[in-house]
Amino acid sequence: MSQSIPVAQRLSAVKPSATVAVAQRARELKQQGIDVLSFSVGEPDFDTPKHICEAAKQAIDKGASRYTAVRGVPELLEAICEASAKRREGVSYDPSQVVVSVGAKHTLFNLALALYDEGDDILIPAPYWVSYPEQVRLFGANPVIVETSEADGFRMTPDALREAITSKTKALILCSPSNPTGAAYTGDQLAALADVAVEHDFWVIVDEIYGQLVYGGFDQKSIAEVAPELQDRIIIVDGVSKTFAMTGWRIGWMLGPAYVAAACDKIQGQSTTNPTAAAQYAAVAALRGPWEPIEEMRKAFETRRALIVDGLNAIEGISCRVPEGAFYAFANVQALVGKQGGGKKLESDLDIAGYLLEEARCAVVPGEAFGAPGFVRISYATSNDTIREGLNRIGEAVAKLR
Ligand SMILES: Cc1ncc(COP(=O)(O)O)c(C=O)c1O
Repeated sequence: MSQSIPVAQRLSAVKPSATVAVAQRARELKQQGIDVLSFSVGEPDFDTPKHICEAAKQAIDKGASRYTAVRGVPELLEAICEASAKRREGVSYDPSQVVVSVGAKHTLFNLALALYDEGDDILIPAPYWVSYPEQVRLFGANPVIVETSEADGFRMTPDALREAITSKTKALILCSPSNPTGAAYTGDQLAALADVAVEHDFWVIVDEIYGQLVYGGFDQKSIAEVAPELQDRIIIVDGVSKTFAMTGWRIGWMLGPAYVAAACDKIQGQSTTNPTAAAQYAAVAALRGPWEPIEEMRKAFETRRALIVDGLNAIEGISCRVPEGAFYAFANVQALVGKQGGGKKLESDLDIAGYLLEEARCAVVPGEAFGAPGFVRISYATSNDTIREGLNRIGEAVAKLR
């Protein structure tokens, strides 16, 4: 028997996704026949709208079965530029500034490979999406976590940004609306951050994958709209996964300076080549409309947001701010830490998530996974009935704590 050959050293710095671990435990319980309600998923529960699926079928019938240009078919690059111009006032991109990848996560991966050198500092406000720091570590750069507070709506302040910047700062990754908090920056707040960034030389990578999922008339702005002076340093990350209920199609993209797009194109040309051809045509149909089915999904999320936030705030020991967008409630469970439940002391949000899974049969994600101990993320990308039932169960389980 020979000894196993170790995997590459760079992997030792990378943690597996904690959100996947919770989903896995929930699946195990389900397989044992236990009825678990899942509030841990990061994808819409809706099917992809019919007109989008039809466009993919037609594309296949017309022969979309071959390699395409690495960065995507011209129709999609144009549709992305048109859709972006409609959404982001006064900002325009042309196809030389776009690269379509296998989901926004792949886009971020390409950008990490293209932009970060070993030892670079990458600023990431917490709570953060789990993949940001791990991708940074994978390439030998350092994630520098910038704390935010619930009182500030989980939004990084200009002072906190200023303090975190050093000569090694290579990029800032902003996510608005955010996974996991649902918090979104106003135009003024973005402009204030831009005022700080403009005095330094680093990339501003903005993940706007939830940009069209905002509620209560929130005036969603891109930093690209409010900070034209940063235009040559802003890189927008976007995709169809969340807005159009297309997580499985795997289409995301970057919009930014043409030389950065060329670098991502070069990297992608040595990895996946193009994203799936038929999925690209589905994305064209998504971006060109009709918008009614998309608006229906957004409205459903808006209704669920009210249901879940009100329901959580009615449970003693839990509080939850109203998120501006995405489909996550980020609940403060600090008052439950230290209580006795399920025969043990709940020492952390991790224990609380474990207790809710075993006792309430509700899968939520511990805040620690997002750099935010004391909170849990509850996805409301699920039906109103499931939300009501989940709130009842969580309420009952929390009431049992001593
Ligand atoms: C903030 C954020 N960015 C990017 C992604 C990745 O999306 P995609 O499915 O396009 O890879 C996700 C998915 O969960 C996300 O929450």
